[in-house]
Amino acid sequence: MSHPPEKIPVCAPVFVGKEREYLLEAIDSGWISSMGAFIGRFESTLAGLCGVRHVEACANGTVALHLLLHALGIGPGDEVIVPSLTFVASANAVLYCGATPSFCEIDEATWVLDTADALRRVTPKTKAIIGVDLFGTLADYDALRAGLAAMGRADVKLVEDAAEAFGSTSRGRPAGSLADGAIFSFFGNKTITTGEGGAVTTDDVALGARMKFLKNHGMHATRRYYHPELGFNYRMTNLQAAVGLAQLEAAEDLCGRKVRAQARYRARLAGVDGVRFAHVPEGQKVVPWLHVVVDDRLDGETARDALLARMLERGIETRPFFAPCHTFPYFAASPGAGLGALPRSERAAATGLCLPSGGALTDAQIDRVCDAYVASRQGLERRAS
Ligand SMILES: Cc1ncc(COP(=O)(O)O)c(C=O)c1O
Repeated sequence: MSHPPEKIPVCAPVFVGKEREYLLEAIDSGWISSMGAFIGRFESTLAGLCGVRHVEACANGTVALHLLLHALGIGPGDEVIVPSLTFVASANAVLYCGATPSFCEIDEATWVLDTADALRRVTPKTKAIIGVDLFGTLADYDALRAGLAAMGRADVKLVEDAAEAFGSTSRGRPAGSLADGAIFSFFGNKTITTGEGGAVTTDDVALGARMKFLKNHGMHATRRYYHPELGFNYRMTNLQAAVGLAQLEAAEDLCGRKVRAQARYRARLAGVDGVRFAHVPEGQKVVPWLHVVVDDRLDGETARDALLARMLERGIETRPFFAPCHTFPYFAASPGAGLGALPRSERAAATGLCLPSGGALTDAQIDRVCDAYVASRQGLERRAS
């Protein structure tokens, strides 16, 4: 009797440090909500790793982004430029502020925001640009800043959505430190996880203090239960922070696993016609969140999804790229919206896929994924001919 092949998950968490110990310590302390020693320890450790002066731990990355945009004063009537090829939360946070996302193109080789295209879309209403560090590759914040200054628009805020980029650096500067403010996600499949969780990071101490106030229901610092303005409950729990601190302490190990796996994937798939990994921009060290390829031999979404189905038959879980936000019905009123408006984003979204990416992946598993990829695509092409 033949056994079904061992299943390789797309992205399972890895706990190699003191997660259990710290979690039990948090439970035993009785501090299980948003007060407790682990919150401050998590925030200061993350600040140290990112080289920023202020961190606010949050309930997840989505609310962290909303908190940051709101604290930057973004509201109705404002436009915020955001790449369409991202997880939808990047653009949703703009709508939560009552502002309008203005969608821009990606660079064909790196799949992150195309700087020139983003700058072309600046209008008198533009209040911010969100550079999304897609799959760990960093947007070019220095070029965006220089371009805005040259246009006389240094007032436009730069926001770094580093949800997927923990550990990456640009010329030695870490993700989370590259813009006026940044956010991370610590969702269960991220390189560093707290289950659900997120954070905002900034060097701007006044902005940091404002976010601390807003995330805590907008409660007055000294007058308890007095709320001078509308705030939110966007706090992280001490339980999440306990897991997160242990993860941050193991960050070098966790990031190293991703980097080594990416190198093996690249080497193994190097000769496969049509398969492209993201180009790594000069000066960047990328810690890939997911191991992602675009396959130029696939003619669109149907072929890509058929390939993924064949991989699954071989026990290999994968996922498609994010669908481009500018094609979603509820963004129809946004600049850059509508099918056909951003062809590079649409093409990458239709032919891109994420290979198994968990930190516990072994070399033998990576080899099996690559063999299965090649065999699945050959099978698909044989059927088509
Ligand atoms: C680019 C990007 N932005 C924002 C988020 C939102 O983070 P969360 O899922 O923690 O709310 C994610 C989540 O995966 C993301 O990938």
